[in-house]
Amino acid sequence: MTILSQWILAGALIGLATGVNAAGGDPEKGAQLAAQGDGTGAPCAACHGADGSGNNAAGFPRLAGLDSGYLAKQMLDYNAGKRINPVMQPNINNFDAQQIRDLAAYYAAMPVPQTSTPATVSEDVLALGEKLANQGDWGNYIPPCSSCHGPGNRGVGATFPAIAGQHPNYIRSQINAWKNNQRNNDPNKLMTAVAERLTDEQIDAVAAYLGSQSATAE
Ligand code: HEC
Ligand code: HEC
Repeated sequence: MTILSQWILAGALIGLATGVNAAGGDPEKGAQLAAQGDGTGAPCAACHGADGSGNNAAGFPRLAGLDSGYLAKQMLDYNAGKRINPVMQPNINNFDAQQIRDLAAYYAAMPVPQTSTPATVSEDVLALGEKLANQGDWGNYIPPCSSCHGPGNRGVGATFPAIAGQHPNYIRSQINAWKNNQRNNDPNKLMTAVAERLTDEQIDAVAAYLGSQSATAE
């Protein structure tokens, strides 16, 4: 079996096995919870924006249109201490699992805003990013991002989040968090294995490329 088919098989099996079932989330309740906050934290819109589009400069991810199962898993991971971030964590640690499903349903149902960030890097760097995203760097055992994150890197189910149209600063921070052992919540270390092989130059390039892409299939 080639390395690529092993990765894809692993991804498919994990997708079946660990996809968080976010069914049962109520987007209207989620909207109320998002506006109120969890009692001690700030309302979600203070950072993620009223339209869920996040903010590149501040490093706040886009949430609108991401898969509800993926969103719910991330919030549960923060609350379980499996994903650590002192800015995000205090905003949801008083919510229970049902409230988290409601919030996830609310953001998943939001129209995807046009968040693409025009790339400020050179054509050569952008081309390097595009190659990594869609063809990988097999000489260094790096599969294409799209082999897991799906066609156009627009996400597959609850396991593989959309990364096209996500903010470059956020993409960079997450890859570095995996590389530096600060984010450890990926199933079977699928993302860690990729992140630890990427050079700083490659991370900058792929983040700029993905950020410049449309989050929707047109
Ligand atoms: C003070 C700013 C702030 C507020 C308020 C806030 N967040 Fe966040 N949020 C962040 C930051 C920063 C991150 C990225 C943290 C990291 O690197 O893990 C994040 C990440 C997330 C993620 C993970 C996204 C992904 O793509 O993996 C989810 C889901 C999320 N926030 C939901 C919410 C919800 C729901 C609320 C309101 C109840 C909320 N956030 C309030 C700053 C905030
Ligand atoms: C072998 C499968 C696989 C490949 C290949 C892969 N990823 Fe991932 N990636 C994942 C999984 C699984 C997650 C979700 C982890 C979790 O549940 O927290 C993820 C999450 C991410 C996230 C976090 C998104 C968010 O909203 O927080 C970023 C950024 C990311 N990947 C970038 C990349 C880039 C860039 C590449 C290509 C260089 C890549 N990935 C290749 C499996 C993969």
